[in-house]
Amino acid sequence: MDAATFSALLSPRSRRVARVDLPNVSRNPAEIQIAPSILSADFTALAAEIDRISTVADWVHVDVMDNHFVPNLTLGLPIVERLVKTSGAPLDCHLMISDPDRWAPAYVEAGAASVTFHVEAAQAPVRLARSLRAAGARAGMALKPATSIESCEGVLPELDMVLLMTVEPGFGGQQFLDVVLPKIRRTRQLLDTLDKAIWLQVDGGISSETIERAAEAGADVFVAGSAVFGADDPAAAVESLRGLAATAAHHM
Ligand code: DX5
Ligand code: ZN
Repeated sequence: MDAATFSALLSPRSRRVARVDLPNVSRNPAEIQIAPSILSADFTALAAEIDRISTVADWVHVDVMDNHFVPNLTLGLPIVERLVKTSGAPLDCHLMISDPDRWAPAYVEAGAASVTFHVEAAQAPVRLARSLRAAGARAGMALKPATSIESCEGVLPELDMVLLMTVEPGFGGQQFLDVVLPKIRRTRQLLDTLDKAIWLQVDGGISSETIERAAEAGADVFVAGSAVFGADDPAAAVESLRGLAATAAHHM
């Protein structure tokens, strides 16, 4: 069964056609977005956990792991499809899965507004990015810490977002890898040479200790799991992170 068929079986009525015009966004580095990762939330109460941040977060970051591309296993299409219906913020699906060429389009069909695949796992990243956008989602491409941005420079014009992992993908609560900072700077420079605004997301170890470094280097979309859902007041944590990043970006 292919991904589209599987998606249709899940809920034929939820399929969407040409749902959105992709937003025309500014290159202003002060336009900071925060995407809390539900990987650090209570998985038995996901809807309630999302409610805690959905009025202040720009996105809900959903980590899909297949126990193959990464050694962890989380959730997949059926749960994403349910979360789309209950979440007050759009879903940003980060697919840490093998064979995204086959499976990623189904996440658009399920209603995710942004779908990010890993370049290390993709057979045909340009074709995949085009198919995600044609289906109505923003297309993102993720790089593990050791993958160079130059190795996939040709794909950049096809994207809405580049995700630079600042930890090895697979688990929350790891330490931010400062070694990725030069790659964030190079990626920002490359993106600024293109004639469209492409967001630069960072994911892994983002906290009040590290977010300013990432923002100064040029990131503008920040995933934070443990720093948000591990806080007593997750919404306040989102606002605090946003403030730190915005101030740091202004000082670039
Ligand atoms: C890790 C995931 C991250 C994770 C980040 O592979 O992609 O989104 O939730 O968690 P923290 O913010 O705790 O490092
Ligand atoms: Zn993630």
